[in-house]
Amino acid sequence: MNQYLKKSLLSFIIFTTFSYESAYQLSDNNNNIEFVDKELSKNYDVCVIGTGYVGLVLGSGLAEIGNKVICLDIDSNKIDLLNNGVSPIFEPGIEDLILKNTTSRNLYFSCNLADSIKNSQVVVIAVGTPQGPDGKADLSAIYSAAETIGKNLNSYKVICIKSTVPIGTWQKVTKIIRDSCPENCDFDLVSLPEFLREGTAIYDSFNPSYNVVGTNSEKAVNILKSIFKDLFNKAPLLIVSNPTAETIKYSINSFLATKIAFINELANLCDNAGVDISEVTKCMALDHRIGKEYLKQGPGFGGSCFPKDVQALIKIMEEYNVEPKILKSVMDSNEYQKRIALKKLYHLIGQDLKNKTITILGLAFKSGTNDIRNSPAKDILEELVKSEANIKAYDPVAIPEMRRVFSKVNYCNSLEEAISNSDAIIIVTEWKEFTELHDLLPKLDKKPIIIDTKDILNLEHLKEQGFIVDSIGRSCKCK
Ligand code: UDX
Repeated sequence: MNQYLKKSLLSFIIFTTFSYESAYQLSDNNNNIEFVDKELSKNYDVCVIGTGYVGLVLGSGLAEIGNKVICLDIDSNKIDLLNNGVSPIFEPGIEDLILKNTTSRNLYFSCNLADSIKNSQVVVIAVGTPQGPDGKADLSAIYSAAETIGKNLNSYKVICIKSTVPIGTWQKVTKIIRDSCPENCDFDLVSLPEFLREGTAIYDSFNPSYNVVGTNSEKAVNILKSIFKDLFNKAPLLIVSNPTAETIKYSINSFLATKIAFINELANLCDNAGVDISEVTKCMALDHRIGKEYLKQGPGFGGSCFPKDVQALIKIMEEYNVEPKILKSVMDSNEYQKRIALKKLYHLIGQDLKNKTITILGLAFKSGTNDIRNSPAKDILEELVKSEANIKAYDPVAIPEMRRVFSKVNYCNSLEEAISNSDAIIIVTEWKEFTELHDLLPKLDKKPIIIDTKDILNLEHLKEQGFIVDSIGRSCKCK
């Protein structure tokens, strides 16, 4: 079934399902159209506040394993989209999961926070904690959600913080809820960090390597066990204190970011020393003390988590009078790495890019997502747009997002269009379709220079065909 037909059918099913039992009315407080569903008078096992990557994947996943879930957002546009079966985020498999669970009446979407909170046993805060101007996590959305929860606390509830928050946030959130709730309100606050990766978020949700629950309440743990069912049995369950859970999340992301920054520096050494980094990491991966994950060299880590979380941990350490020497260098090293492809470009083609056509392949921070937050492609484009080069760019899904940031780039509709008549191609994201370059490149009239920062092409083979090629950490194979 093609995408258009699938979307139309999906919208029809959702529309008929909801128009049967639902009504829309104007909210008294503002002009937003607020979704009011008769289902709101029923009880929910879980309500999730925030329909970003974390909230939406968690809510759909909990519905899939048999819970009755309502996902909430103050953005009525997002809720309207979701009620029409359209996901506001690009995540493989999410729309199928939403369709399945809205049809089976396990999953609902609403802007009505008050009623949904009142009618739920577990309330999960999954709002964004973006990096503030001072480098610290901006907790305003968390505090606002906490106040709304407090005001609507009509019975005992387990309140979970899923968002990534600095150490001690659980105390502040507990105080806000207590200060805003009716007298003698009863709740437990659980720190429940999330570890899913964009692009594989659904797989990660159903296949956790471990689960972390931060609380001192046995009652809350038992309720969460009944909600998370097998997901808590599938992998080790670590029950720790709230501040420990908060620290674990930053520690894991910052350690992985450190591992990548280390490998990238090693890759740069390998380039200068005539060594192949992939042979080095292959051996490192066999050492169980190191492990095989997050050893892939590249153009620097990006995304919504690693850069933000390392920066936030730097601030947390400073607040606790610890000098974050390693993490500061991780950030510095990553900033350098994000522009290393440009250094290689200038080395191969010269500094003057006037009348040169440069193609950027991959705009998202990694494959499987349209997220361009902190994407290395952004840093590269930022510098290229200042030159007089003709810039072409292609990404299977992230062009609309990047067009909003850089309008002067010539965005192409296909890989073929992007690589034709180009002087240099820089691969920045490991999209699988880019391996088609092996078939497409030999057909080109003009042979471009190829800089493969993601190590997805057989550069030796391309070199044999007369292409000038370069990589990160494998330059010895290109000379
Ligand atoms: C990360 C964490 O993995 C996840 O547990 C957390 O919940 C959110 O942050 P995500 O940002 O979605 O997930 O992507 P991830 O796959 O971890 O990659 C992060 C960045 O590191 C990307 O830019 C990726 O390209 C880069 N990376 C990853 C490498 O450069 N080398 C690697 O070996 C792995």
